[in-house]
Parts: sequence; C-alpha cells; structure tokens
Amino acid sequence: MCEYCGCQSLATIDELTREHDMVVNLIGEVRAALAIGDAGRMAELARGIAAILGPHTEVEERGLFAFLTGEFPGQVAALEAEHRTIEAVLAQAADGTPADPGWPARLMDTLELLREHILKEQDGVFPAALIALDATDWDAVEAVRARVGTLLPQP
Ligand SMILES: [Fe+2]
Repeated sequence: MCEYCGCQSLATIDELTREHDMVVNLIGEVRAALAIGDAGRMAELARGIAAILGPHTEVEERGLFAFLTGEFPGQVAALEAEHRTIEAVLAQAADGTPADPGWPARLMDTLELLREHILKEQDGVFPAALIALDATDWDAVEAVRARVGTLLPQP
C-alpha cells in the first residue's frame, strides 16, 4: 500500500469496522440466547466478544486515540471509560457462566452500551482520524495492529 492516497488509512479503518461488524453479529446471537434463557450460551458469546475486542481496543487506544486525545480529550476519555465498563461485564464470564442471576440483564445493558459506543466510533472517531492522522501516524497505528493481531478471518 502507498503512503499518499489514503489507502493505508482506509484499510486500517476497514479492519476496525469489520471487527465491529463481527461484534454486532455476536450481540444479535446473545439476544437470541437470552430469548431461550440460555445463560451458558450468553457467557460463551461474551467470551467471544471479549476475544475480538482485546486486540481491537488496543489498536483504538494505543493507536487512533493516542493521536486524537490532544484535540478531543473529553471524548477520548469517555470512550476509554466505556471500554473499561464493557470489559468488566464481559470479564465476569471469563471463567464460565456467572452464578449471579443479575448478570444476563447486566450483560444486555452493557451490550446496548457497546452498540451505541460502536456507532459513536464509526460516526465520530473514525472520520475524525481520517482527517487528523498523517501517514506516519497510520504507520504507528499499524504497528500496534501488527503487535496485537486480529481475530478477523484472514484472506
Ligand atoms: Fe471499536
């Protein structure tokens, strides 16, 4: 990929967007599992979402956000706080199905937050990044990606 036409930045954003799509699909599956009262399946799906978000969040926070926080400190801090909230509820399923009978409802609330969070990133952060970051910045974002990998299916 070249450094001049923006194709590198678009590929990076496309990867983040496809991870969002995978997560949104899994959120749909969690809702289906809730409808049949299958907390075990909900926990399994929560682990799947957490696994996708692990490297994804690193790329956002160590990559994109690091270049945006100077201009948008409040927005970046709010998005990072949402990451921590979402991670905490997903982590409750890390070792199995949470015994707490309140967990499925808490998970659904958190996944609603996650859906809104994803829209904020796609409608706000990603377009802002495409304007604000230069080729060197995108190299740094890609270096984070190269370090943490992705669970996206590779071609
Ligand atoms: Fe994201």
